[in-house]
Amino acid sequence: MKEIKIESTLYVFDNVHELPQEAFKLMQKAVEAREKAYAPYSKFHVGAALLLDNNEIITGNNQENASYPSGLCAERTAIYYAGSQFPNAKVIRMAISAGSKNNQTKEPIPPCGACRQAIAEYEIKQETPIEIYFMGETGKVAKSKSLANLLPLVFDKSVL
Ligand code: THU
Repeated sequence: MKEIKIESTLYVFDNVHELPQEAFKLMQKAVEAREKAYAPYSKFHVGAALLLDNNEIITGNNQENASYPSGLCAERTAIYYAGSQFPNAKVIRMAISAGSKNNQTKEPIPPCGACRQAIAEYEIKQETPIEIYFMGETGKVAKSKSLANLLPLVFDKSVL
């Protein structure tokens, strides 16, 4: 038996104004998208913005449904739209902002496991890292240099 340790590294900015300008602008788009989320059931609003290498910015937000599992997270709404509209473009960066209507969300909220798996598919396909910035409504912003860093032990096409 041997022990295997897996490490992830995050970079944490004290607030959104500390971000590099391009990431700040993308986070603003994520916040705008969050404000348009359709989340009447959870009251948890999430917005995501993607910068593509063709300079397009794609945004998405969570879309809920009375049949709860039929809803979709913001990150997948955005990345599936990007994949469907610009199949040959690479995703350079993703910004995510999340906030609950029940309390002020001050901590960075990472993408859920299903969204990490979905983003991983595109990172593997494009063979270049996707930077991920994530935050609540206010406060600190976390950055991961790649999706792989957020999803060790990814399930990918190599096992199929
Ligand atoms: N949600 C997202 O949009 N992204 C995530 O990464 C986590 C959760 C949404 C799904 C649902 O509409 C609400 O937040 C509460 O789970």
